[in-house]
Amino acid sequence: MQTTEKKIDESKQGEALILDTNTAKNSKKLYLESYGCAMNFSDSEVVASILSKNGYSTTRNIEESDLILLNTCSIRDKAEQTVRKRLTTFKKMKKAKPSLMVGVLGCMAERLKTALLEEEKLVDLVVGPDAYRDLPNLLQITEGGQKSVNVLLSREETYADISPVRLDNTGVTAFVSITRGCDNMCSFCVVPFTRGRERSRNPLTIVAEARDLYERGYREVTLLGQNVDSYRWNMSSKGEIKDETIPTTNFAQLMEMVALVSPLMRVRFSTSHPKDMGNDVIETIAKHANICNYIHLPVQSGNSDLLKKMNRGYTREWYLNRIAAIHRILPNATISTDIITGFCGETEEQHQDTLSLIKEVKFSAAFMYKYSERPKTLAERKYEDDIPEEIKQRRLTEIIKVQHENQLAYFEKQIGREFEVLIEKVSKKSDEEYMGRNEHSSSIIFPKGNHKVGEYVNVKITSCTKASMRGELI
Ligand code: 5AD
Ligand code: SF4
Repeated sequence: MQTTEKKIDESKQGEALILDTNTAKNSKKLYLESYGCAMNFSDSEVVASILSKNGYSTTRNIEESDLILLNTCSIRDKAEQTVRKRLTTFKKMKKAKPSLMVGVLGCMAERLKTALLEEEKLVDLVVGPDAYRDLPNLLQITEGGQKSVNVLLSREETYADISPVRLDNTGVTAFVSITRGCDNMCSFCVVPFTRGRERSRNPLTIVAEARDLYERGYREVTLLGQNVDSYRWNMSSKGEIKDETIPTTNFAQLMEMVALVSPLMRVRFSTSHPKDMGNDVIETIAKHANICNYIHLPVQSGNSDLLKKMNRGYTREWYLNRIAAIHRILPNATISTDIITGFCGETEEQHQDTLSLIKEVKFSAAFMYKYSERPKTLAERKYEDDIPEEIKQRRLTEIIKVQHENQLAYFEKQIGREFEVLIEKVSKKSDEEYMGRNEHSSSIIFPKGNHKVGEYVNVKITSCTKASMRGELI
């Protein structure tokens, strides 16, 4: 799927993020946990904004909460199991505090609908990704002692006018959602069922949000969509203009509009789709120094027959041609990817094709998964999930090994190079050091010097592990 579960940092997949803001003078306490992709994290900020106007401020202390909301992910079975476990731990809390309300938001809410109320007993409200505006109303029903549900999907909702409450942040980087839903129907993917049809957000609201973030001190925005390359405003999917009186905007143009907000604000985007990423997008990245030279381009498999079965809309050759175009137009770019191993009927040769593609492209990072069958998807209806778990695991291990070798070689090559780094936060391991990223999205750890979070500094790489690089200020 083209999101990334906190893509930009897909490493966050499956991890929970606990959100906290105390800006409002609200008396009721909301404890909000997000799972899965960056889109969910971004949606949680919309939810916090809606509820901040309805008497809630967020808290990190679950003990003091009046309302617990879990923004959930359905992409793999494991993601759902994590949420289920979390829900059972709330059971005890509810017993001790009967007024406590627990709600499930996001993809699991949409997928399981009322079943969640029946099965789990402890859930009071179930709200799908397009129904967050209805939360105040649903909460009122729940406060009255009844269960409430709204899982209606919309063809229009983009929350364009809602100014998200920025939560998990030191005020430097932010997500800005540009599309919702997905029309691609990759055969393994549950997203089109849980997030509905694809729709694009008004470009003027996107630019206004980016400008507002810049004025508040943010220095990086990541434009988010399941497939950013299919962003289109005032155009049908066939390219017909809908309203002659307003300009049309495609993704390359949108990215340029955001890049022009300020040369000091970095622009990132996720996720690109190999079938839709045209040269115009790559050329726009080349044209603006503040659009990061980093493309997350999920390949999923290195074998054309399997890609066909996955309904990805491209072949191995097409993918490699896109990679060649990136290298030609953006010689400095780094590329990361997503891979699924053990998809229905995957042969040993097909697996070898994936390994050879990884060796050939040399991704700077990859998010690698075992195929997990999802209800309702085309793959679930049409193909057998026939690769035994041990084989999936063995293939995954082989893929990870090659990827880690590539990654280490890539990092080693960076030793001695200098990068402009945007300081994001104090390093997890040491208070004396910062973590920041270069334009390739690589994390770099370096001594603090006299600098502050949110500043740009020049760092020379001095050493690395397979996960990150260290450097010194220059
Ligand atoms: N099983 C395993 N991985 C999946 N992804 C999407 N659906 C599945 C599934 N059913 C992966 C894809 C996608 C990433 C976000 O999650 O690689 O790009
Ligand atoms: Fe991404 Fe395909 Fe899923 Fe859409 S259907 S979210 S493009 S994997």
